[in-house]
Order: sequence, then structure tokens, then C-alpha cells
Amino acid sequence: MRKFAQIAASGRPAAVHYREGSMRPLTSSPHHVDLAEQYAYPPDGPWLRANMVAGLDGAAQRDERSGGLGNESDKRLFLLLRGLADAVIVGAGTVRAEGYGPVRPVPEWGAVRDGRPPVPPLVIVSRSLGLDFDGPAFTEAQVPTIVLTCADADPERLREARARAEVIVAGERALDFGVAFRALAALGHRRLLCEGGPAVLGQIAAAGLLDELCLTLSPMLLGGDALRILDGPTVPDPAPTLAHALTDDDFLFLRYTRATR
Ligand SMILES: NC(=O)c1ccc[n+]([C@@H]2O[C@H](COP(=O)([O-])OP(=O)(O)OC[C@H]3O[C@@H](n4cnc5c(N)ncnc54)[C@H](OP(=O)(O)O)[C@@H]3O)[C@@H](O)[C@H]2O)c1
Repeated sequence: MRKFAQIAASGRPAAVHYREGSMRPLTSSPHHVDLAEQYAYPPDGPWLRANMVAGLDGAAQRDERSGGLGNESDKRLFLLLRGLADAVIVGAGTVRAEGYGPVRPVPEWGAVRDGRPPVPPLVIVSRSLGLDFDGPAFTEAQVPTIVLTCADADPERLREARARAEVIVAGERALDFGVAFRALAALGHRRLLCEGGPAVLGQIAAAGLLDELCLTLSPMLLGGDALRILDGPTVPDPAPTLAHALTDDDFLFLRYTRATR
């Protein structure tokens, strides 16, 4: 608005002013990118990446799920990011809403998991432990599913969880995400991928634990009362850096990182 006002007051043609500035177009290249290279984790140290999809108005849900927001490229990226990760973290709300199963291998992974277990474990965040311990997320997992919970969890449900999963207890009345992620790192899971949902990611971002956000911007206007990708406290350090922007089929695939923890 300020720029418009200044130009109008000066009486000079707008085009002169709008040739200045630092905006650049997304260049169209005939070459396809190597996605595994493009999304490689840093070579060492813990790193927490989140992968989310949202419509143009910020809606992170369509019909109360996220599946209807993506396209084929988004699905391929979703699977690749799983392959690159040591562990895949998700909130119990998303597990229940989307009927999450365990992470399953896909042939497209090729060599990305060389030297590592065939799949990363699913890591579910839950206080209530209101999870289906007889469901595929626990019974069909190739590597044991991990449950992150807090000391406040119901003792009977905790016993059930321990019978079906690895359990990490961190924090008293609510999960302490920092402590939990350090426990995951101690188990060899340094390259973390968080697939939401907004309640879990909101807390992770607010705690200053988010190193990278991969955001698929879907060409949809949803309106309504859909959640945004963060549903939590105010984020103290809200300014990540754009690492790359890719496009396909009117979708944007944005990768934002922060340089240092
Ligand atoms: N657009 C996207 O990319 C995207 C991605 C993922 C999900 N979604 C959508 O988001 C919706 C679900 O998101 P949501 O925000 O409601 O749920 P969520 O973040 O997936 O999970 C929330 C649950 O996580 C547990 N939890 C959260 N914070 C905790 C803490 N500090 N300590 C212990 N447990 C904690 C609680 O589980 P208990 O209730 O078991 O205690 C809580 O109910 C679904 O509609 C899903 O489709 C969208």
C-alpha cells in the first residue's frame, strides 16, 4: 500500500518503479530435478523436517482430511520424504482421521534406504493412548511403531502400548517434544520427518524445534473452518529461508529451512 501511495504522489509512471526490486519469476527449466538430491537431509546432526499440504487460503484439511489437497507429484514427494527419513512422526489425531497404517516401502525408493532398515518406524504422539493397538499401524509394522507419550498417560493403556510398540515417555502432563526428539536421536533416528497434524506441528514450531518445512501449496480455495498447518501457540522465530520452489500442474512445492538450530 505504501508503495502505491508513493508512486501516485510522485506522478511518475509506475513501470519505472516496478522494474526495480528483487522479485524474480520461477524459471521454467526443461530438466527434471533429482528429488532425492533436492530433499537430502544435512549430512550430520539432528534435523526435523515437516511435510504439509495446504490450499491457497491456508486450509490444511479438505473434508476433514489432507488427502484431497494433493496431486500425483505431492504423493510421490510424500513417499520420497518418508524414504529419506529415519522416523516418521505423526499426531494421534491424524492417525485417527486418516486411518494411518505403518510406513510401507515403495520400489521408487531405490537406494535411498541403503544401509538402513527397510522402512522408517511410525512414531505416534498421544497423551490419551486412545489408539487401535490391534490395527495395522501396530500389527503390520515392519519395524516396531514408536509411541511418544507423557507420564500422565493412563497406566492400563500404557501397558497395552508397551505390549505393541516401543514407548518413550517424556514430560509430565504433556509430551516434552525436545526430550522426546533427543530420545529418538539416541536410538539412531536423527533425520526426523513430521507429517503433522496441525496440533503437533504447532507445538513443535512454537518450541523452536522445526528445522525445515516442506509445504505443498495446492491450487484450491477451500474456505470453511479448516485448520491451518499450525494449530498451536505463537511461534517465536517465524522467519525461515526459502531453500527451493518447484512447480508441477499449478502446484508449488516449497522448501523452507533455517540455517542453524
Ligand atoms: N494438510 C496437511 O498436510 C495435514 C497433515 C496432517 C494432518 N492433517 C489433518 O489434520 C487433522 C488432524 O490434526 P489435529 O491437529 O487435529 O491432530 P494431530 O496434531 O495429528 O494430533 C493431535 C493429537 O496428538 C496428541 N498430542 C498433541 N500434543 C500432545 C502433547 N503435547 N502431549 C501428548 N500428546 C499430544 C493428542 O493425542 P491424544 O488425543 O491421543 O491424546 C492430540 O489429540 C486431520 O483432519 C488431518 O487430516 C493435515
